[in-house]
Amino acid sequence: MERWRTIIEPFRIKSVEPIRLTTVGERQARLETAGYNLFNLHSDDVLIDLLTDSGTGAMSSDQWAGIQRGDESYAGSPSWFHFLESVQALFPFTHVIPTHQGRAAEKILFSVVGGPGKAIPSNTHFDTTRANIEFTGAEAVDLVIEEGRHPSVIHPFKGNMDTEALGAFIHERGEASIPLVMVTITNNTGGGQPVSLENLRAVRAICDRYGLPLFLDACRFAENAWFIKQREAGQADRPIVDIVREMASLADGMTMSAKKDGLANIGGWLALNDDAWAAQARNLLILTEGFPTYGGLAGRDLEAIAQGLREVVDEDYLRYRIRSTAYLGDALVAAGVPCVQPIGGHAVYIDAAALLPQVSWDAYPGQALAVALYREGGIRGCEIGTVMFGLHPDGTQTQAAMELVRLAIPRRVYTQSHIDYVIEVVRWVAERAGELGGYRITEQPLQLRHFTARFEPIG
Ligand SMILES: Cc1ncc(COP(=O)(O)O)c(C=O)c1O
Repeated sequence: MERWRTIIEPFRIKSVEPIRLTTVGERQARLETAGYNLFNLHSDDVLIDLLTDSGTGAMSSDQWAGIQRGDESYAGSPSWFHFLESVQALFPFTHVIPTHQGRAAEKILFSVVGGPGKAIPSNTHFDTTRANIEFTGAEAVDLVIEEGRHPSVIHPFKGNMDTEALGAFIHERGEASIPLVMVTITNNTGGGQPVSLENLRAVRAICDRYGLPLFLDACRFAENAWFIKQREAGQADRPIVDIVREMASLADGMTMSAKKDGLANIGGWLALNDDAWAAQARNLLILTEGFPTYGGLAGRDLEAIAQGLREVVDEDYLRYRIRSTAYLGDALVAAGVPCVQPIGGHAVYIDAAALLPQVSWDAYPGQALAVALYREGGIRGCEIGTVMFGLHPDGTQTQAAMELVRLAIPRRVYTQSHIDYVIEVVRWVAERAGELGGYRITEQPLQLRHFTARFEPIG
């Protein structure tokens, strides 16, 4: 038990950025222009931007100093070696392939290992991972534990893989059609829920039984490690870095978006031990991203990530990070707002299907709630439901497993009073949720439609 209850931000603010207050009428006009898609808004029309925690964090003074030190040599820059050292200190894979963000690492990996007839199981694939797998003609399969599919069910590691289902799936499909198994830590799509070390070890054992490689989608590895330290038996006294290294030791490779637990505004990497796959991946990197010692990044970005990786495993930072996300979630739950529980690491997920039972899944309850939060309070969240996951490559639509609105917390950006404001607005909207109607889509692409689709209110 800690002595003081108040969560303080473990930093002082050195540089500030104004945010602009707008009226409900102004925001309604912006929504109409944006086709009711919050991705189409100008961000200076947003008051509190909880669209994503990806690349939206505030950098530290040491990271800004790294930006100044960045060496922009085309090949063999010292900034590359700083980056490599920082990555391998946590994830000692043989090959590290720098990319401009996580999806570029996914694109390269699945171009090498994917293709028609292949299947990639995961606890839950993130949307870009799924899209990159499906783009090659392979199948992306989600096998999270049953508890992870139910927003209100409490479980300490709701991101865990259903290992029985994984074994059965591999047995049924045959290992030859499965190039690798993936585990997403934490499970973003499933509510930012962690995966235990015990589960990772069990997945590793299944992979060993069938001779399959295991890859981590490690975007929020430090948050996952913090949950392991807090919740898993026998882990409380271990340094975070040790837990991270054990997670890495159970895998054969990883994809990473440095825009999350790299504490940077851009960047990512693919890391792996397999020499043949790495050679193919580097060829693709040169074709699409850049030379292997900078990939998709400037030297200054490599420095920012190198420093970010040192800061993100700091326990004072992680304690603040996870407790301040829980502060928002606990207040909403106490006010009777249905949320995915327990509260995840980087975001609070509101269960829009439960809050708006009058809006059917194909009228997109998550979209309706996200639009209302913006209109009423200038808060931008993100639908994670049928809009994001319901459309299939053949153009058919099915209901997503959950209809959520994610309020993602950018790292080190908002203070407690910003979050108190968010709590007040969400409560106000939730009390009137019965008055909200649904939406229909008027325009959409076939892939990743949530980024560009346009909507109109029904009725
Ligand atoms: C779990 C997970 N995997 C992959 C990605 C893709 O990373 P990026 O946005 O850097 O392409 C994200 C981004 O949100 C994510 O949350």
